[in-house]
Amino acid sequence: MDLQLSGRVAVVTGASKGIGLAVTRSLLEEGARVVAVSRKNTPELEQLAGPDLLHVSADLTDPEAPAQVIARAVEHFGGLDILVNNAGGPPPGITMPRTGFFDSNDGQWQAIFEFNLFSAVRAIRAAIPKMIERGGGSIINVSTGMARQPASVNVEYGAAKAGLSNLTKALSEEFGSQGVRVNTVSPGAVLTAWWTEEGGAADVLAGMAGADRQSIMDSIAPQMMGQVTGRLIAPQEVADAILLLASPRSASTTGADFAVDAGFVKTF
Ligand SMILES: NC(=O)c1ccc[n+]([C@@H]2O[C@H](COP(=O)([O-])OP(=O)(O)OC[C@H]3O[C@@H](n4cnc5c(N)ncnc54)[C@H](OP(=O)(O)O)[C@@H]3O)[C@@H](O)[C@H]2O)c1
Repeated sequence: MDLQLSGRVAVVTGASKGIGLAVTRSLLEEGARVVAVSRKNTPELEQLAGPDLLHVSADLTDPEAPAQVIARAVEHFGGLDILVNNAGGPPPGITMPRTGFFDSNDGQWQAIFEFNLFSAVRAIRAAIPKMIERGGGSIINVSTGMARQPASVNVEYGAAKAGLSNLTKALSEEFGSQGVRVNTVSPGAVLTAWWTEEGGAADVLAGMAGADRQSIMDSIAPQMMGQVTGRLIAPQEVADAILLLASPRSASTTGADFAVDAGFVKTF
């Protein structure tokens, strides 16, 4: 299937690792031009270097940064068609999962909302006028199954992402007639640095469950997350759903939430 993404300009946040890296690689393979945003570059992202890829180093928790990133994309590639608000998860200094509501103070709630909700709000605010100038565009917000199925282990994160999912539907209504589509992709547990890095989710759960980190990733975490496939999700599986939503092939899909959660959310 030709996704008709050749020559289109995309901004992907959190592009140096995990889901964002898979999205960036796939967009480039489809002939898109990509502005990849993260604080630091990685060898994996550097391997994709070429005329169609621009890495912009930015800390998206800085309120000025999202608009600066969008402006840089327009300046470099001449416009904007696709925005993937993928950066999210635990902000610097916070490890997730957590143990419950009393585990976090105001500052931590605010940091989680800044990173998971407000950075996307600011990027969208800057992106929509640029998309409308070109007759429309596609915004994909990466949410989580926990936005619809709350869990006490990540209560602030789930609340922030529920805000993102709600915002997505509101925007789809307001800007649909101007050609801007807005959708969410909501993953279950995905095998990324969030899980694998030292001190990451696998280590935290290993401590809680009294198990080794490999067993957590191989079987315990998928079981805890109700993933009926019995394994963590591959980043590419999430990226593939994002690419379909980025593509004009999904021109009548807006305000939708695509679950890539291996059966975690059971509600309609
Ligand atoms: N992994 C999961 O199990 C899972 C499940 C459900 C939903 N999700 C969602 O999927 C999205 C991607 O998660 P992931 O697991 O693929 O992430 P990841 O592998 O941990 O990668 C995070 C990316 O975000 C960047 N980043 C982190 N802090 C940043 C900041 N302040 N400013 C700019 N960039 C920043 C990182 O680069 P730098 O550190 O260099 O900045 C990196 O490129 C998130 O929205 C997350 O909530 C993930």
